[in-house]
Amino acid sequence: MSENIIRPSIKSEDLIAFIKSRKSVRNFIFEKISDQTIRDILECGRWAPSGMNNQPWKVIVVKSPMVKQMLANLTKYGGLIESSYVSIVVFLDLQASYHRVKDIQAIGAFMENILLGVHAMELGAVWVGEILNKKEEVNELFKFNPNKYELMGVIAVGVIDEQKEKMKEEPRVRKMVDEFTDWL
Ligand SMILES: Cc1cc2nc3c(=O)[nH]c(=O)nc-3n(C[C@H](O)[C@H](O)[C@H](O)COP(=O)(O)O)c2cc1C
Repeated sequence: MSENIIRPSIKSEDLIAFIKSRKSVRNFIFEKISDQTIRDILECGRWAPSGMNNQPWKVIVVKSPMVKQMLANLTKYGGLIESSYVSIVVFLDLQASYHRVKDIQAIGAFMENILLGVHAMELGAVWVGEILNKKEEVNELFKFNPNKYELMGVIAVGVIDEQKEKMKEEPRVRKMVDEFTDWL
């Protein structure tokens, strides 16, 4: 991925349609995803904005079925983690932090960029936030000092089970822009 593109030659309407078409995928088939693809996905995260460009993210890529299982045991959405090929565990690097709200906003941007990267690779992903209920246990699993790293979420990534996804297709609900926007 080039680092100096001013604006890629994607038609705006295509890019907007792409952003709107990203959705959580919860049905995976167990198929390998190459390390290079995982790196390309993380590369999308790398280009997220952050306050003072502090890039306060720290990631563990979990491919090991055994570790994935241990992670899955820490959330009621563990089935998603188990059935996906890889879990991207995202932490806030507390030593890189300078402003709690801005740092967490940067992590949100980082995670959304990853979701969009996954979507661009025609793979599926779901953000598992529920695991934050067991954030201390997640730190223990990775032997991460809680004073250094704070869990922000897990993104389960896998090859989409297209058939199951089609069968489960639900209407995608969003507030209208005018419901959350005032104009002055
Ligand atoms: C902060 C955050 C936490 C989330 N946690 C979970 C979760 O624990 N389990 C889950 O199945 N989906 C989770 N999601 C996915 C949301 O349910 C999903 O993004 C939302 O319903 C909108 O659907 P869409 O992603 O298909 O557009 C989370 C999303 C975000 C942004």
